[in-house]
Amino acid sequence: MGQTAKIQCGDQGFEVPLIVGSEGETALDIRQLRAKTGMITYDPGYGNTGACLSAVTFIDGEKGILRYRGYPIEQLAEKSTFLEVAMLLLNGELPRKDELVSFTGEITRHTMIHEDMKWLYRSLPKDAHPMAVCAAVVGALSTFYPGLQDNTDSTKVNAAILRLMAKLPTIAAGAHKHSIGQPFIYPDNSLDYCSNFLKMMFGTPCEPYMVDPVVARALDRLLILHADHEQNCSTSSVRMVGSSQPPLYASISAGISALWGPLHGGANQEVIEMLERIEREEGSAENFLDRAKDRNDTTKLMGFGHRVYKNHDPRALILKATAREVLERLGVRSKLLEIAMKLEERALSDDYFVSRKLYPNVDFYSGIIYKAIGIPVNMFTVLFAIGRLPGWIAHWKEMHADREARISRPRQVYTGAQKRDYVAIAQR
Ligand code: ACO
Repeated sequence: MGQTAKIQCGDQGFEVPLIVGSEGETALDIRQLRAKTGMITYDPGYGNTGACLSAVTFIDGEKGILRYRGYPIEQLAEKSTFLEVAMLLLNGELPRKDELVSFTGEITRHTMIHEDMKWLYRSLPKDAHPMAVCAAVVGALSTFYPGLQDNTDSTKVNAAILRLMAKLPTIAAGAHKHSIGQPFIYPDNSLDYCSNFLKMMFGTPCEPYMVDPVVARALDRLLILHADHEQNCSTSSVRMVGSSQPPLYASISAGISALWGPLHGGANQEVIEMLERIEREEGSAENFLDRAKDRNDTTKLMGFGHRVYKNHDPRALILKATAREVLERLGVRSKLLEIAMKLEERALSDDYFVSRKLYPNVDFYSGIIYKAIGIPVNMFTVLFAIGRLPGWIAHWKEMHADREARISRPRQVYTGAQKRDYVAIAQR
């Protein structure tokens, strides 16, 4: 018998087994709690709830550690590439060279989308947010590839995974082209993943488009840094939707929708809008921080704070250095970067932020890089989605391989009216 803990409630005692993870994190296994005691747990936002066992990503929020499959994010950001990291997440191990070449080739050959999908874009308003467009188009993939929907057939699942990885940049660039009324640019299979995306975003049929390798590398690094983050809101959404066993595309579409919100992936767009507002209206970083601290004001310092990181977000450290490096190499002077650094400096010496353990998160500096490399603000979160895709899929695969996985179905503590009799409308 392994370790146990005892939950005592009045005179009722209940022994629960402990589960210890490979990095020492300990959980109370309460699966039998309701059956044995009639009680459930209450944990809004799931801050204390382990919904699964997972071997994909390790985070220590107190120490600022992030590792994919055991590999520190700092090493991957410096030495790896996005497609290699995608393979690591999807398969559990770094690929051999021939495996990476084969995977890259497969991705490259599936970048085109079905011609009829363009009608789908045309039916959507031009000012639709590209995240909404991407969620719709990815959801529609199951209508274009109905043959790949058997989640129990690994060949079909792998084909669906390759299609998603290959087509999401094409779908995303299509959302941008649709919004500005330019013709879609077909993928160029002679280019690497990021260069191809940049060409589809910024190229036109009228003139050649040369990809700047500095920009392509910066984008690749950004995608690596966003590739997974264990059970965050969008990944949990992918798992939750996936638990009822619809096709993979449906789960990923749900993940895109969850990521869109300003408290999650949408924060990168909000950060730039905040910095631009400070530049335009606020006068100084101090004025803005005063508003962010005021309980009667709904203003938040966007890009600050994290449910898990209570020391620093290692991705923010890498991105701050990357932002400086990219701007320098592109010869861009950014007033927004200056404002961001000033905000960070002031916030980190302010008792409000220090006592609440609020530090810059991944979104604080990513938007500055996106802006410097020409990505429109409303596409920032879409870039996050492209980066997060292999993480979502890795969790989806893990869940489907887990024999203990069940349909996600939380309980509730009902606080509504007790039984009462229907009153006819004339008597109300
Ligand atoms: N600005 C000002 N105050 C903040 C901020 C912020 N950015 N973040 C948290 N606080 C305050 C809260 O008001 C609260 O104060 P109180 O104790 O006086 O009530 C305290 O810090 C704790 O914050 P919670 O909201 O309880 O923390 P939670 O873990 O629920 O939320 C979240 C985390 C959503 C990220 C939050 O910090 C936030 O809204 N940040 C801004 C949005 C953002 O940057 N989101 C991106 C997150 S990273 C990602 O998803 C990729």
